[in-house]
Amino acid sequence: MIKAVRGTRDLLPPETALWNFVEAAARDVFRAYNFQEIRTPIFEETQLFARSVGEETDIVAKEMYTWEDRARAQSDKGLSLTLRPENTAGVVRAYIEHKLWERGLQKLYYIGPQFRRERPQKGRYRQFYQIGAEVIGPPTAGSESPARDAEVLEMLATFLDRLGITDWTLGLNSVGCPNDRAVFNEALRKALEPVAAKMCADCQRRAVNNPLRVFDCKVPADQPIIDKLPRISQFLDEGCRKHFTEVQEILKVIGIPFTLNDRLVRGLDYYTRTAFEFTHGALGAQNAILGGGRYDGLSESLGGPQAPGIGFAIGEDRLVMSLKESADAVARKPDVYIAPLGEGMNREAARLAHELRRHDLVAELGDESFRPKKSLETASKMGARYALIIGENEVKANAFALKNLETGEQVSVPRSELARKIQGNG
Ligand code: HAM
Repeated sequence: MIKAVRGTRDLLPPETALWNFVEAAARDVFRAYNFQEIRTPIFEETQLFARSVGEETDIVAKEMYTWEDRARAQSDKGLSLTLRPENTAGVVRAYIEHKLWERGLQKLYYIGPQFRRERPQKGRYRQFYQIGAEVIGPPTAGSESPARDAEVLEMLATFLDRLGITDWTLGLNSVGCPNDRAVFNEALRKALEPVAAKMCADCQRRAVNNPLRVFDCKVPADQPIIDKLPRISQFLDEGCRKHFTEVQEILKVIGIPFTLNDRLVRGLDYYTRTAFEFTHGALGAQNAILGGGRYDGLSESLGGPQAPGIGFAIGEDRLVMSLKESADAVARKPDVYIAPLGEGMNREAARLAHELRRHDLVAELGDESFRPKKSLETASKMGARYALIIGENEVKANAFALKNLETGEQVSVPRSELARKIQGNG
């Protein structure tokens, strides 16, 4: 038997109703903040991710699904392509490719699958889904302002509240600008020199190539060493410090609680200044429900113009796991189960179903071969509110037996009044 590949899964009903519920809420909330949808391809050139996410990150170094595309000519080398492990790089590529800066500040959101070859466990998949958004534009459009950071964070808090997820924690840090980072990396390198040999193989490599990434380490034995390392917060220049303070001040004014966490550097290299994560206790080890931050130099590093930006991505799989709502509660059940009784009644039933569905009612159809008992049982089992019985006498009278499956009450309703009655307005 062929099964779904490890780390991938089928989302089945009724659970898919929860996913739709979450996505509809996201579209609705983001709309109020004037975000619009962007859809970028699921695969891109490998170098897009190498140059933006960073060669030394776990994502690029270990987790990407990369292959060589078939060459056009025999002498050609095929292009290296990669399934997107995240969506910010694709959005910034599209921003540059379509000169979106000509349209002013861009507020874009996306919903879709991402791919990382991680070790699967609860809340961690190889194909997972993100709901993300990016605010990016020329500095003259205000893209660099701390007001953007605060707005994005407030939008996230509003979104989580809307879903009834209240027990979240917002961890906040500033990872500074490239200058701060260079000084910090030097300090880290020095601090790591005497201790790196005692750390895991990844950290020994990071200590040399990209010391900041040591903070991504999850190996328990390395944690006491990492705890003693210098922190980026001690290295912020005047501009970054001011920016970070202003973000915090706005958050305080609008009442969004946060916790400063100067170990938070996020696992991607493009971040500058504000970096954040929302965690949720109920999720266990994979407790980051979403993450994001600023990436003020990303466009330039991909050959584009200066285009500061900030964004986030929510792990939709994890978000759905932390909902209190049950799938059954949000799934829409049939309003009416139409039960044709006896030969020739399928045609009449089809006609009625057609009419009722045009009134935005959810109608399920039985079959004329079913006995009345089987029809009613099927209707109850699927949670239909009403059963509508179509027999020869009903067709002649142009009035049909409508049974309320909750109360058991049955009435005869003229065809013209059926839709209103089932909608509950009659
Ligand atoms: P990220 O932290 O790599 O950031 O991913 C964001 C979220 O995606 C995580 O917090 C987590 O909830 C979810 N996630 C990541 N990997 C997996 C996985 N294997 N299985 C299930 N869920 C997962 C980014 O991707 C950045 N592009 C976010 C961003 C946008 N920064 C600026 N703009």
